[in-house]
Amino acid sequence: MKNYNVGIIGATGMVGQRFILLLANHPWFKIKVLAASPRSAGKPYSEAVGKKWSMDDPIPESVKDMIVMDATADKEKIASMVDFVFCAVDMKKDEIKALEEAYAKLECPVVSNNSANRFTPDVPMVVPEINPEHIDIIPAQRKRLGTKRGFIAVKSNCSIQSYVPALHPLRKYGIKAVLACTYQAISGAGKTFESWPEMVDNLIPYIGGEEEKSEKEPLKVWGRIEGDKIVVADSPAITTQCLRVPVSNGHTAAVFVKFENKPTIEQILKDWKEFAGVPQELKLPSAPKQFLNYFEENDRPQAKLDRNLEGGMAISMGRLREDTQYDYKFVCLSHNTLRGAAGGGVLMAELLAVKGYFD
Ligand SMILES: NC(=O)c1ccc[n+]([C@@H]2O[C@H](COP(=O)([O-])OP(=O)(O)OC[C@H]3O[C@@H](n4cnc5c(N)ncnc54)[C@H](OP(=O)(O)O)[C@@H]3O)[C@@H](O)[C@H]2O)c1
Repeated sequence: MKNYNVGIIGATGMVGQRFILLLANHPWFKIKVLAASPRSAGKPYSEAVGKKWSMDDPIPESVKDMIVMDATADKEKIASMVDFVFCAVDMKKDEIKALEEAYAKLECPVVSNNSANRFTPDVPMVVPEINPEHIDIIPAQRKRLGTKRGFIAVKSNCSIQSYVPALHPLRKYGIKAVLACTYQAISGAGKTFESWPEMVDNLIPYIGGEEEKSEKEPLKVWGRIEGDKIVVADSPAITTQCLRVPVSNGHTAAVFVKFENKPTIEQILKDWKEFAGVPQELKLPSAPKQFLNYFEENDRPQAKLDRNLEGGMAISMGRLREDTQYDYKFVCLSHNTLRGAAGGGVLMAELLAVKGYFD
């Protein structure tokens, strides 16, 4: 496989730090540029990130002294230095849209973790095991942008990365309705217990914009390409409640589901066990060997014990049982900054690389 030079826009943030660790020894992608806001620009990375570094592993030697660039002011230079960029920034939605489009128009593909372009009709929102075929929309997007190489591809929100993978292999039974309550880690807000002490011994029953994303985004992931856009699926009906809980990493979801044709518990367990997607078939470097993992123990999955399964790229499920109002209920877990953010971004980039979109 060819090697690619990459940039990380938002390199000092929670997701950016994950990207740095995941890419430090990546077989295909080499970090060439780190960029962030004007506050960080011009400083060596270790100084710019300072106390915000919140990973268990230390900052890799290879990036410690790299001078952070200004994501906006230096965009032409950055675009000329790399084959594509990962982008995870905390900015206003219209600013992010403008930034991502500017890079794409500079012929620098953008693999984004931000929500700003998730509902742009010709921007694929990809969970590589679920809807890899959506990247086929990229030629239509390039036509709109007037680019040869440049495009934007996005990841879905971290909240849906636990329950959508679990529901996906069950769509053949006709999923009618889903109720999901998510219990989301503080790293999902870019925080640690140090930077957000109010979360110790606490629960906050509100995460701005999260319920809308959790209900709408699965329908785009399950949508289909029609001409030059992705048309969202019209079912199932999904309702959610999203709560912030005092957990450092790992989003858990309690899911209730109703089917047109109710499967048996054995069928569901078999479908989960046997499910493999394109990343597994292609043996992409970041793909978990077993994507969906069911725990028989009543007290699993647990965020602290199970979030790092297969490098934080696998989904864990448990407690599948019949329900009195829906057909079944179960619990599932995914690592929000790995599978739900940087890891999912790297996996998507691996898929795009194999399919030739960075050439
Ligand atoms: N955390 C998660 O689990 C998660 C999951 C999925 C998606 N996301 C999405 O990923 C994005 C980043 O999240 P995060 O948790 O990593 O946020 P974060 O920890 O607050 O980091 C924000 C990053 O954005 C940079 N930034 C802020 N203003 C900027 C500007 N004007 N120009 C360039 N860079 C700027 C910051 O640089 P400075 O240090 O220089 O200020 C920092 O690198 C968000 O869109 C978020 O919704 C996060």
